[in-house]
Amino acid sequence: VTAQVLAWESHPEFAVKRDTRSFSDLDHIVRVLADADAATNRWRDKARIRFNHKVHLVPEGIPVPPGHPEFHEGRTLKKLACQDCHVPDAAGEAMQPVRFDAHCAPCHRLEFSFAQAPGGPLPHGDPALAKAVLRQRLTDYVLAHPEVLHEQTAEPSILPTVPPKAPAELQQKAADADAARWKWVESQLKELCGRIQEPSPLLVDPSAGQSPTAPGRRIQTGCAYCHQIRESDAGNWSVLTPNIPQRWMPMARFSHRSHAMVACQKCHYDSGQGQEPLVPDRSSDTADLMMPGIQVCRECHTVSGRNSHPGSAASRCVDCHRYHGRSHDRIRSWTGIQGENE
Ligand code: HEC
Ligand code: HEC
Ligand code: HEC
Ligand code: HEC
Ligand code: HEC
Ligand code: HEC
Repeated sequence: VTAQVLAWESHPEFAVKRDTRSFSDLDHIVRVLADADAATNRWRDKARIRFNHKVHLVPEGIPVPPGHPEFHEGRTLKKLACQDCHVPDAAGEAMQPVRFDAHCAPCHRLEFSFAQAPGGPLPHGDPALAKAVLRQRLTDYVLAHPEVLHEQTAEPSILPTVPPKAPAELQQKAADADAARWKWVESQLKELCGRIQEPSPLLVDPSAGQSPTAPGRRIQTGCAYCHQIRESDAGNWSVLTPNIPQRWMPMARFSHRSHAMVACQKCHYDSGQGQEPLVPDRSSDTADLMMPGIQVCRECHTVSGRNSHPGSAASRCVDCHRYHGRSHDRIRSWTGIQGENE
């Protein structure tokens, strides 16, 4: 919108809800957050993370795995609420970023049933760190179980009695053993890293009639279950930065605390433009966008320019736009997006 906004009554629709065809401005901040969808002329969230609100918000609850604090024998369902993942910041304004460790890990532990690298969940984040932890575990394992080397080379594991060795020969033997361990660790590591990347479904399926605690029925969640993976070579991979926006309306201020009396879905709703209306508990695609349009605000923020007009919530420009002289870069930094999502 290039035209000046003179009054709340003639205020334009918020960028993220405008018809994408009316966007000639290639430099508008909304492009940092979303992609224009030619089929619907709507904006689509371009965060590179797989998340499905609908699956997690089923009214009867979602199964929790063994090891979850609320798990008990048999079938355990947990009813998730919006507030389980979305918590306002200390000022009560924007929602804090969703965090894997706090909001996903209780159910999606990065635990892989690798018999030769035991030790619980892997650290989440930098793949190089997960790899380093695995390498350490494999090294510990081969030191405690030297017999795995013989299994691999098919050498007899009980050697015949040999005559005493000269020191040089002993040194050579130690070096050979180190090399053999190193070779074993690296080959195992390569295989396990391949398995860590794979998307593997949660192995908790109460409807299949199997006990979730039965051996072998441990959760396996590869990085690719939630992430887009970039692989440079086998065993060396990185995930694309998820770039989940921290602010969807960075050019205005908003306070979730001041609206605690309003249900989330009253604002986080999309009319669907002739299609099914969309609310979070019916959204099955990360790309779905459910930000409020201006008509919702107008139900309460009715009269322009008054701060305490009876019956109208604050509607002066400064009630919603506090910052002046903001540079494009500054606004951009509030979105929390790093680089371009190619
Ligand atoms: C299990 C965690 C979880 C729960 C529960 C959850 N969300 Fe989310 N929500 C996320 C994640 C992760 C994202 C970022 C990825 C995305 O956009 O889907 C997100 C993004 C959003 C967004 C911003 C993007 C958009 O689609 O407009 C809104 C709004 C939102 N959630 C509202 C809700 C509401 C309302 C509820 C309750 C009905 C809810 N969420 C429940 C995890 C959750
Ligand atoms: C209370 C447990 C629980 C929490 C918390 C949870 N999940 Fe899930 N999630 C599940 C279960 C169970 C399924 C399998 C549901 C099914 O297939 O019906 C699942 C499915 C998924 C799927 C596959 C969905 C699809 O489209 O098939 C993704 C991706 C996912 N979760 C990501 C996340 C992320 C990201 C978070 C944190 C923001 C999260 N989950 C938090 C239990 C949980
Ligand atoms: C169940 C879903 C899920 C799985 C499985 C998962 N992640 Fe994530 N990951 C997330 C979510 C959600 C975020 C964004 C929130 C955060 O940073 O905690 C994220 C963020 C990240 C980031 C960015 C962190 C940052 O500071 O920007 C990296 C890197 C990452 N994950 C790596 C991995 C690797 C490597 C694996 C596999 C070993 C993995 N993830 C498995 C859900 C998942
Ligand atoms: C009165 C309308 C309204 C209500 C009610 C509301 N929100 Fe929002 N929400 C907004 C607006 C406006 C934004 C954009 C704010 C911004 O970017 O500064 C937003 C942003 C968000 C975001 C994206 C992160 C961010 O801060 O931009 C999430 C997630 C979210 N809301 C979740 C919720 C949940 C969960 C509830 C219920 C507990 C809720 N909202 C209630 C209007 C509302
Ligand atoms: C009740 C709250 C509210 C009031 C009052 C309000 N605005 Fe806004 N305004 C918003 C929100 C929310 C956005 C969307 C911000 C975004 O997309 O980052 C916005 C966006 C804008 C934009 C950017 C439009 C675009 O996308 O290019 C301008 C310019 C603007 N407002 C000017 C004004 C002026 C001038 C006034 C006073 C006459 C005013 N606003 C009053 C909430 C308000
Ligand atoms: C159900 C009524 C209602 C709806 C809908 C509503 N508001 Fe409000 N809003 C209020 C009330 C009440 C206050 C607090 C009293 C006041 O400041 O006048 C308020 C305060 C605010 C404030 C000042 C925040 C503060 O406390 O400092 C902003 C900014 C704001 N609203 C923006 C919005 C936007 C943007 C929307 C639409 C997405 C919206 N509101 C929708 C009732 C509503």
